[in-house]
Amino acid sequence: MNWDDTTDAEAAAERLVGAVADGEDQAVEAALRPKDLGEFIGQEKVREQLDLVLRAARARGATADHVLLSGAPGLGKTTLSMIIAAEMEAPIRITSGPAIQHAGDLAAILSSLQEGEVLFLDEIHRMSRPAEEMLYMAMEDFRVDVVVGKGPGATAIPLELPPFTLVGATTRAGLLPPPLRDRFGFTAHMEFYGPAELERVIHRSAGLLDVEIDPTGAAEIAGRSRGTPRIANRLLRRVRDYAQVKADGLITQEIAEAALAVYEVDARGLDRLDRGVLEALLKLFGGGPVGLSTLAVAVGEERETVEEVAEPFLVREGLLARTPRGRVATPAAWAHLGLTPPRSQSSGNGQQDLFGA
Ligand SMILES: Nc1ncnc2c1ncn2[C@@H]1O[C@H](COP(=O)(O)OP(=O)(O)OP(=O)(O)O)[C@@H](O)[C@H]1O
Ligand SMILES: [Mg+2]
Repeated sequence: MNWDDTTDAEAAAERLVGAVADGEDQAVEAALRPKDLGEFIGQEKVREQLDLVLRAARARGATADHVLLSGAPGLGKTTLSMIIAAEMEAPIRITSGPAIQHAGDLAAILSSLQEGEVLFLDEIHRMSRPAEEMLYMAMEDFRVDVVVGKGPGATAIPLELPPFTLVGATTRAGLLPPPLRDRFGFTAHMEFYGPAELERVIHRSAGLLDVEIDPTGAAEIAGRSRGTPRIANRLLRRVRDYAQVKADGLITQEIAEAALAVYEVDARGLDRLDRGVLEALLKLFGGGPVGLSTLAVAVGEERETVEEVAEPFLVREGLLARTPRGRVATPAAWAHLGLTPPRSQSSGNGQQDLFGA
């Protein structure tokens, strides 16, 4: 899946259930970010491992090992990077792969780091090649070669760096060259959150935003949040608006359901686009298999939008499968839309019959 292509990122950000941050998210997220590991909800394994790494470094009076955070958008990578700095009582410098065009940009940042500082490099997979190679040496030997001059007269001046902790974040760990991946002492793979964890995220955010919510309301929003805290927080804000305007402000299950019906986010977190794709697949193509291009035309969307914006979640939810012969709906898809599969499909895997007939 590609989260980086600008048009897809924009298409995804426009959606209420898109995982990429929009302008409003960025404005409120700072206020909702947990400040230390104890406040960080879920991701038990990552938390436990990171806690050990940081505690041990603190006990040794050393700078923590470099940390790589990998996971889908909105799961808490930026949040964790700030927590790492806070737990180490170290300052943090924030930059990103796309912001580092030339090795010189990176050299300037590295040479101005203080001892023990955390350097957060977001979207690290999008760094340029020469910068990447400079980073290898900086991570391993705390040294960079700064090239002065051009052409045959150019000389490399070695520069010592103070020990620092690099925290890299990526939505696409698979794109990192192995030499870079290997230089991280610890890699945290962030998973999607379970419903109970999302409920805790929602209750916590509601408290910070001064929103009244009961447990049934939190459960309802959690179930529609696609395993992603950022989406949970966003849905919470929209439901809060509804509760304020249409009711007395208290978010109950009933209010959450009514509010999210207005925004066309269904009980499983599918929005209009997702449902459009599923509906076309079921109603027009009998559940498939159907080619991606045909399916895209049927829903009036670009191929890329269907493939990169709608499908990943449908596949993750077990509603749609990508097969060599095309897209296929699963029995769960028929059930979710309240439709009855054609007889040859009701066994659960009758696509072959349809096609062979
Ligand atoms: N474990 C958590 N507990 C509570 N809130 C969380 C947690 N993880 C994320 N959040 C909330 O979700 C929002 C998004 O998190 P964050 O910005 O860290 O995601 P990200 O992984 O950096 O996303 P991106 O890939 O888009 O940069 C933040 O506002 C944060 O408050
Ligand atoms: Mg981030």
